[in-house]
This record gives sequence, C-alpha cells and structure tokens, in this order.
Amino acid sequence: QVIRLADYAPPAWLVDEVSLIFRLDPAATRVQSRISFRANPAAPGHHDLWLDGENLKLLSARINGEARSVTPGPEGLRIPATELPEGQFLWEAEVEIAPEGNTALEGLYMSRGMYCTQCEAEGFRKITFYPDRPDVMATFRVRIESELPVLLSNGNPTAQGAGWAEWHDPWPKPAYLFALVAGDLVAQSNRFTTVSGTEVALNIWVRPGDENKCAYAMDALIRSMRWDEEVYGREYDLDVFNIVAVDDFNMGAMENKGLNIFNSRYVLASPETATDQDYENIERIIAHEYFHNWTGNRITCRDWFQLCLKEGLTVYRDQQFTGDMRSHAVKRIEDVLTLRARQFREDNGPLAHNVRPETYVEINNFYTATVYEKGAELIGMLRRLVGDDAYRAALRLYFERHDGQACTIEDWIRVFEDTTHRDLSQFKRWYSQAGTPRVMVEDSWADGTYVLRLHQSVPATPGQPLKEPLVIPVAVGLLGQDGRELQPTVVLELSEPVQEFRFEGLPQRPVPSILRGFSAPVILQRDQTSAERAVLLAHDTDPFNRWEAGRSLARDVLLAMIARDEAPSTAFLEGLGSLLRDPALDPAFIALALRLPSEDDLAQALHEAGEVPDPARIHDMRRKLTHLRAEHLAEDLHRIHDAMASTGAYDPAADQAGRRALRNAALAGLTHLDQGARASRQFATADNMTEQLGALSALLEIGAGADELAAFYDQWRGDRLVLDKWFGLQVMFAAPDAAAETAAGLAAHPDFDWKNPNRFRAVIGGLSANAAGFHHASGAGYRFVADWLIRLDPLNPQTAARMSTAFETWQRYDPGRQALIRAELERMRSAPTLSRDLGEMVGRMLG
Ligand code: ARG
Ligand code: ZN
Repeated sequence: QVIRLADYAPPAWLVDEVSLIFRLDPAATRVQSRISFRANPAAPGHHDLWLDGENLKLLSARINGEARSVTPGPEGLRIPATELPEGQFLWEAEVEIAPEGNTALEGLYMSRGMYCTQCEAEGFRKITFYPDRPDVMATFRVRIESELPVLLSNGNPTAQGAGWAEWHDPWPKPAYLFALVAGDLVAQSNRFTTVSGTEVALNIWVRPGDENKCAYAMDALIRSMRWDEEVYGREYDLDVFNIVAVDDFNMGAMENKGLNIFNSRYVLASPETATDQDYENIERIIAHEYFHNWTGNRITCRDWFQLCLKEGLTVYRDQQFTGDMRSHAVKRIEDVLTLRARQFREDNGPLAHNVRPETYVEINNFYTATVYEKGAELIGMLRRLVGDDAYRAALRLYFERHDGQACTIEDWIRVFEDTTHRDLSQFKRWYSQAGTPRVMVEDSWADGTYVLRLHQSVPATPGQPLKEPLVIPVAVGLLGQDGRELQPTVVLELSEPVQEFRFEGLPQRPVPSILRGFSAPVILQRDQTSAERAVLLAHDTDPFNRWEAGRSLARDVLLAMIARDEAPSTAFLEGLGSLLRDPALDPAFIALALRLPSEDDLAQALHEAGEVPDPARIHDMRRKLTHLRAEHLAEDLHRIHDAMASTGAYDPAADQAGRRALRNAALAGLTHLDQGARASRQFATADNMTEQLGALSALLEIGAGADELAAFYDQWRGDRLVLDKWFGLQVMFAAPDAAAETAAGLAAHPDFDWKNPNRFRAVIGGLSANAAGFHHASGAGYRFVADWLIRLDPLNPQTAARMSTAFETWQRYDPGRQALIRAELERMRSAPTLSRDLGEMVGRMLG
C-alpha cells in the first residue's frame, strides 16, 4: 500500500493526555492505556476513531468507563462515529504483548535481559492502540512495574517504590518519541546547570562492567548542551537527561524525549577498545540526539514526508558542532567524502528520491543519505544564500513561531522568506527534485576580463524524467598562476540553465577555484589541466578545494591506470611529497589528502564517464598505485611514521587523532614495502585501539597478519564491540577471490550472532563494503549477501531492507554481473517471507 503526501489530512481526534501502566514480563507484558481524546477543530464534523495497533492482544476496551467489544484488524481498530460521544471522551484499554519474541527490534523488545523500546517511525503501535502519527502530540504519564532495578521513561521521575516507578513528561510529544527502559543497569552521572540556572541531572546507563567506558560520551553531552545554548540559544527543558546504551539496536541512536537510547557502539569507549573514529562518532551522535530536543522534539514533523525537517537540520547542526570542536576544514572534507560515497551513489541509481519524498510504502526505508545528508546540504546552501545573520534570525523565528508544533517544509521555508523578504520558491525545488545536479563550467579570458559560463542540468531519476533549474550557490575565488589570491570568495547564484559571471580588471588569466567549501551538492564538470590543479593544491586559500585538487589528480591518475596502464606521473607523486613535507599543514588534512578514492568511488566515476567499471581491475590498479606511491615516498613515510608516534597519555581530541590518522596512513604505505615488519611492531606495542587496528588493517591489506588476527581474537573475545571489528576487518580486507568464502567462514563462527545487528552488519555489510569481493565475477558475493538478507528479513525486516542497498549500483556493471544481480534481486522478491520493507527496496531496485 502506497502512502502519499498529497493525501495528508489532519487527525480527526487529538489527544490531550496519555497515561500508561506497564506490567513487564518477557512473554506477556500488560499495557494499560488511558487516553483523553478531543475532536480536532481543524477537522470539523463527527468522525470515526482510528487507532493504529499491530501484534497486540486486546484484553479490554472502554469508552467513558463503558466496556466495548471491539475486534481489531491486522493494522488497528476503528470505532464508528455513531458509537462515539461528540466533543471528547476517555479511551481505556489493556493489551498484552511479548517483548522477548520481538526480533524486529521495533516497539518494546528485549536485549540481553533488558527491556527497551524503539518507536520511530511507527513502533508505538506495537505497544498499544494509539493514533500513531507525529501530528498527534500529548503529554505522557507512565508507570512501570517490574522487579528489575532501573525503570526509566520520558520526562521527569515523579515517584518510585519497590518494583515500580512513575514518570511524567510535561512536553507534548508524538508517540514516536515515547521510550521505556528496564534493566539491571548502572549509571555514570553528572550535572549540568543551564544558562538560566536550572540544574539538570545527567545519567548514562550501561550494563555493570561498562561504567568505566562512558566518560567521553558524558563529556560530549555536556559540550553539546553548552554549545546549543551558545550557538542556537536553546536550553534544556527537563530535570533529568538520561541516555541508555543497548547492544541490540537497528540504527545509531534515538532522540526519545529525555531518554535517548543508543546503540552501545556509539556510547562505550576506552582508549584500548575504541578508535579515534569511534570517539568522533560518539561525539557526533551524542550531539545529534541531544540537538533533536529542539529540532525534532519541541518542533516536530507533521507527517513522515517531512522527515528532513528534523533530520537535515539536526545533521547540519551536528556538523557545525563537530567543526567547532575539531577542525572545520577536516570536517567538511569528511562530510563531502560521505556525501559522495553514500548520497551521490543513491541519487544516481534506482533508489534516487527527493529530500522530501512524495510516496512511500515503508517509511523506515527513507531514513537515507538523501534525507539526512543531502537534507543537511540544503540547510548549508540556504545559509550561504541568505547570509549568516539572516540564518540566525530565521532560526530564532522558527523556534519562536513553531515551538510545540508539528511542522512542514513549507513552514521552514516561510521563516526564511519572512526574515529575508526573499522569494524562495525556486530554492524549494531542491526538496522536490531528486538527482545530483551537474554544473558544467566553461571559461574565457580577454582584456583583463575573465568570464565563467555555468550550465546546470539534472539527469532523469525514477519517476522524474524532466527537471527544472535550481538555485545553486557556487562559491568562487580566483588565484594567480603564482598562487596569489586575485579574488577572494564570492558566492555566485546560478539560477538559470546557463549563466555568465564576469570578473573584470584582472592582471592575468586566473586559475579559478570553483565550488569552494563544496558550496552545493553537485557534480562539477570541468576540464582542468594538471598545472591548474597543482596551483590549487599548493596555494588555494580554501582548504576544501585544496584537498579537492589533490583528490581529482589522484582520481585521474587512477582512471588512466585503469584505462591504459598509464604510469602515475612524477609530478603527481612529487605533489604528494610536498604535502608530506609541509610543516604548516594539519596532519589530519594530510591524512585525508593521502586517502585514495575508494574502489566504489572509482566505479562511480567510471560510470559517470559513460564507461563500465571492472571491479577486479579497479582493485588491482588502486593497490598498484598504493605500492608505487609508497616506493616513491618511502623516505617521507618512514619519517612521518616515526614523527607521529604518540607522546604522553592518550587523548581522543582532534590534535592527537590527526597525528594517529597520518601515522596509520604512512604505515599502510610502508607495509606494502616491508612485508609488514613495521606493522607487526606497531601491533605488538600499540597501547590504543587506533594504532592496534591501524596495524592490523595494514597487515590484512597485504594478505598478512594471520598471527596478529589470532592474537587480537584472544585478547578481545570478551568484548562484543571490539569483536565486531575483528569480524568486519577480515571480510573488508579479504582478497577478492576469497572474500565470499571468508565471510561464509565467519558466519559459521561460534561468535557470529546473526540476530545482533552490529554483528550481522560486520560480516554481511563487510562483504558489501569489499567492492571487488562483493562484485566478484563468480557471483559468490551477491549470493552470500542475498542468502543472508532472505534469512534475516522475516525476523528483522528493517535491517534487511537497509542492507539491500548493497545492490543499488547494479546498473553500472557489465551484462554478466547485471544478470547475476538481477537473479538475486528476483530471488529475494520471490521469497515467501518477503517483508514490506525489503519488498519495497527490491521492487524499486528492479524498477
Ligand atoms: N531519529 C533517529 C536519528 O536520527 C533515527 C531513527 C531511525 N529510525 C528508523 N526507523 N530508521 O538519530
Ligand atoms: Zn536524527
């Protein structure tokens, strides 16, 4: 059944207050609900009452105290208007549910003896009968009865005794923000005083034994709370803020009001068990969920089509936060790398969709890179177009005008229009037009005038053959041939299909630096000489474009190796050498500059150029370049590996993390030259996971490291999160011929718990991340992944559907591979247990 944005109608009945009593039991939890309904003045007339409900055993129902016999259908129940009082009434019901049998990890479920919930998007309907839609907002009172020692829900605690606890959330919220946790948990606690002087109790709840791994998450939380006050003027609004770490979780984390629930991998960290990347992810996701308290909770979405209203904005805010905490230059490069790897990949294949979709079958399938990451890019563009001051004013108006409401993208755009008195209707097309725009650049030079001629176009995407021109902010600067900046950054507004921009009075023909800071999520098409790129790489004042110049050089070198065995030029290798020797550069930046485009990036680039990628050849040439580059730069790499060694106590902050990133990058190159001697030494002496894992990865990449792998397992077999790394790494670094077999071997390992999403992702997701292994001409990679998705789907459709995106690039490949993939997609589609989730994904991929 297809749900359409165009069919939106306001709810007939609103809820003022909800009161819930949970009597927890693994096999038979009882949930009593009392819900006061009131007719919605925005939907005049006397209407039926529809309550969503799935897998609920209805024990009793009453309206205004009078028993009703109701027979629910598979998706909920309906009380005809004729059987309802007019105006308002009280609904009371009792249902029974079985959390221990809930393998979908949606609704109320169990994870290793603890109860927890995940309600976004539509999980609350698996807990009780309710109008489970985000435009119905209510205050919640919750009583939990259980022998477990820690009983948590949203809002503030109001009373507790032996075997029970009561909570009250005074802020009206949609049901998707409901949460409940019960378990044998311990807290790491702290306090925060808000800017206006309110004391907030902070707790991070984990299993006993993990309490010494919460300090960084707590620190990140406190920094997030302060930052949101300082930068957005947003204060916290309850007496307590609880975070719970759960081992079995379908995604990263969830912003339930006052009770955020996290995948434990984004909370738990110690220097020995977590990498610098893990620390950065924890900081980012703690901030993201916290920021949702205003962008998501206080102001929520009217319906699920508006998901980007909260997600795009909250991602944008967490990106700003990370930039402030670390380095804006490095963060921007990392974000663009992810955007291209995930969102461009999605936007240029069969799963392309609008930032605000207009139809869906299963909303869980739209928590995508397009909604999140492209959604965040739209905020950044808007800000660039209106300027920083207007952005700040518009946000102030947004919070003032819409607090407590369930809103739309129209509301969002309107605050910018009202602040700037600018017509943003053309900009709004970014929300309703899928596909990555191409911006083609031509330039000319005469008599001191330089002209940039920009053409925009968007390729057709599924269901959208024709596209309209967008407003594209193109940040441009001009450099002299000697690297001096002739024109500092200006933002050109490209709004026509073709437009010219003139720069006058220049002393010489400039080298243009276009799309500085990656000012728009587009693909820039321009023939640029290596000499121009060398100028930008050495001198651009914009760090993003400086990195980009190196990146595009490396990409072209790789494409030439792939196409015609062309050797990398000495100029290219020397350019890298000068980066390695530049003492003014941030080590984290150098590490990013050394990172070669991934195999999937290269396949994407070849497809973009109208060619058919050969995954095996891409793999070989990328390895070859890694090797040649290490030979050429061996001296520098040795020096760096020694110089970047850590001194003093481990600190996860940006400075040390950048040094370790560069050190590991140097090691990966050197390992190609010394058969792993250095890497084995680093592995043996590492006192932190970043260096231990860096060494192990370098070894696995050259096909060595068997002893280290075994030692790693012995050392870490008791730590689930570290063991996930052990599983994932082996598959990701397996040689193409052996990848599917390696994955199959690991799937038979006694520690492979396929019902745990993190472990499943490590092995099955690890294989899809190994491009040459997954796309092996034998089809073994495709078969392995499809087998496991078919197996997981009836138990956990959400994770199965998400991971099916491994196949989304299938139309790039040769007829042989396409036939193999099509056969797997069709096999999944005809599985007798096919879920709505996976069914929709496979259907869209097959077209
Ligand atoms: N709102 C959560 C976040 O952005 C993610 C929830 C994902 N839900 C889902 N059904 N996929 O942090
Ligand atoms: Zn979010």
